[in-house]
Formats: sequence, structure tokens, C-alpha cells
Amino acid sequence: MPSWDDTRDTMHLASTDTEIQADEAAGQVTAGPAGPDPYPASGPGEGPGAAPGTGPGAGSAAHSAAHSAAHSAARSAAAVADELVGLTDQLSALESLAPGPDVNRLFSAVVRTVTTTPPPVARVVRTHPGVSARTGRLRELSARGESALEAHWSRRIATASDPGAELRRFPYGDNYRDLVAMELRLLRRHLGPQVPRSVVVLGCGPLPLTATGYARGLGTRSVAVDHDPAAVAAARRFLDATREAAGSTREAGTVVVHDDAHRVPLREHDVVVLAALVGTTATAKTAVLRSLAARMRPETLLLARSAHGLRALLYPEIDPSTMSGFEVLDVKHPAGDVINSMIVARRV
Ligand SMILES: C[S@@+](CC[C@H](N)C(=O)[O-])C[C@H]1O[C@@H](n2cnc3c(N)ncnc32)[C@H](O)[C@@H]1O
Repeated sequence: MPSWDDTRDTMHLASTDTEIQADEAAGQVTAGPAGPDPYPASGPGEGPGAAPGTGPGAGSAAHSAAHSAAHSAARSAAAVADELVGLTDQLSALESLAPGPDVNRLFSAVVRTVTTTPPPVARVVRTHPGVSARTGRLRELSARGESALEAHWSRRIATASDPGAELRRFPYGDNYRDLVAMELRLLRRHLGPQVPRSVVVLGCGPLPLTATGYARGLGTRSVAVDHDPAAVAAARRFLDATREAAGSTREAGTVVVHDDAHRVPLREHDVVVLAALVGTTATAKTAVLRSLAARMRPETLLLARSAHGLRALLYPEIDPSTMSGFEVLDVKHPAGDVINSMIVARRV
């Protein structure tokens, strides 16, 4: 996987198209959880299909070589599409999406496919009728699977005799850390010299590692919000159990509030983080962004998690041009294991 580095992977608005093309040429544009890759890539499996452009070649005329490459890419796209259709249908047939061998294997295969398919093939895959007919379903399965995974680990950590040690066993801890670290690097470019007074994470889920990561990274108070009472109760139990391991850091002061992202007051916060799964359709996302603009203080920053390319099969994609009330400052499509794209915007 390519390494993360601010100069390569971040797309400043002025040069977004050019840099996307450069990254695509290098086979590195990716997008997408809000968050952590929810499932590990387990075992070699069949892979997402042959790399494009590996056609026969020797002795062919240029036209024939180009034709072969296109044909090969089309065949690869068909294989990737068939795989995604099959995986979605198998996940749909499961009675529960709680972590277990079948759930882990199927989600791992989905994540591996969306993160490793080269962009030119991915573009064709997204237009495949079987895939486009299942996009909503796959996003819904992914959201339910991620919530079930987080609830499972939140409970497991909160009830462990040594919650700190159990937290270190959480297999996706590195994904959360990497994601939050990338977001903080991006945000710091636009934060003033003052430490923000407070950050709010909308859609914290039962395992509020984004909220604790921001509290630790920014050295500030963090408020974690969720509209699901079960997620709120689990997040509070998790924080109570891990408070001792967090010591006296700001992270230990993270609080969880039961409220809706469309309603919770935002004026006191200098940074607002919008989880990828708050607003799961384009219409719902636009509505939530509009309501954030109505409640945020001018000049404060929004970090919105998004998705790009095939990763948008798992998480909704935000079109920066629809973010009225905001000045979009940075858009980043990470390469590698981090699935979510991120947008930094200033409330105007
Ligand atoms: C699976 S989780 C955790 C966050 C995830 N890792 C991410 O970044 O998207 C997403 C959470 O968003 C919450 N959520 C969805 N819509 C919301 C809303 N309108 N207001 C508050 N919470 C919301 C859900 O209840 C769920 O717990």
C-alpha cells in the first residue's frame, strides 16, 4: 500500500482534478469509513480480478494493444462486479451481521475489493447494473455491520477485567488511529494558533474512538453525540471503563450526549466532525450539512467524512459543490487501508 503523506494524498481545491489524475495514473486514488476499515482483509482469497492493461501485447499494432487493454479492463470490471453482487447477496441472506466467521469473511472480501480495484476498472464497475442496483443495500449492510462490530467491541472492552488491555486487542484500533491522525493533519492546516476550546463528533457510535482521538490529538474537550440510545449507553459504559487507562488526559474528559445531529447545539464548538454514516443518502447528507451550516458559528471548521470511487459503495459520497454555507478548504481521498475520504470546510 502506498504510504500516507500530506503532499501526495491531499487534494487542495485549486488542483484537485490534476492531482486526482496524477494519483489515478499511479493507481492510488481511493476513497471512503468513515472510518476504519470495518473488517480485516483475511486470507488471500480470489482477489478482485486481474489488473487492467495486462493484455497480450507482443508484436501487436498500437490500436490492437489499446483494444486488448480495454477488453481486459472490461473483463476485469465484469469479474469485480460479479464478485460484489455475489458478496452483497450473501451478506443479505445472513440472519445477523454480528462479528463471526461468515460476516468477517464476507465483509473482508468487500473491503479488499473496494480498496484494491484500480480506479479505471472501478469506474466501470460502478455503472454495472447489478452493482448500481445494490449500492443502497450494500451501504445499509455496511452501516449495520459496522454498528454491530462497534457494539460488540464496546461491550467486550467495557466488561473486561482489564479494559485498557482489551482495547489494545481491538483489531481495528490502528484504522481509527490512522484515520483520526490524517484528519488532524488536514485540520491543523486551517486551525488558528489557538487550541480549539471544544470539538463535537456527530454520530459517535457505541465505540467513541473518534471522539477520544480528537480529544487527545487536539488537547481539547470532546463531546460525542449519537441519536441511538443504545449506542449512547454503550459509549458511556466504554468511557467509564477506560477512564482509568486514559489517565488524566483530555481524552478522559470526553462526554457522550444523546441527541440528533440535526438538532444538537453547535455554537460552543470550534470543530465539528460529521461521521460518514450520518445521512446515508445524497439527499439526507445535503440536509444534514445544511442544518450544520445553520447552527455552526461563522469561521469554525467542519470535518466531514465522505467516500470516493468504489468505496462509495460502503459510505455516502459528499459532493463538495453542494456544501452551501461552507467554504471547502481541503478534500482528501486516502490511498491504502483508510476507507473514508475527508473534507475540511469553514462555516462562512
Ligand atoms: C456506526 S457509527 C460510528 C461512527 C463511524 N465510525 C463513522 O465514522 O461513521 C455511526 C453512528 O451514527 C449514528 N447516527 C446516524 N445518524 C445520526 C443522527 N442524525 N444524529 C446522531 N447520530 C446519528 C448512528 O446511531 C451510529 O451509532
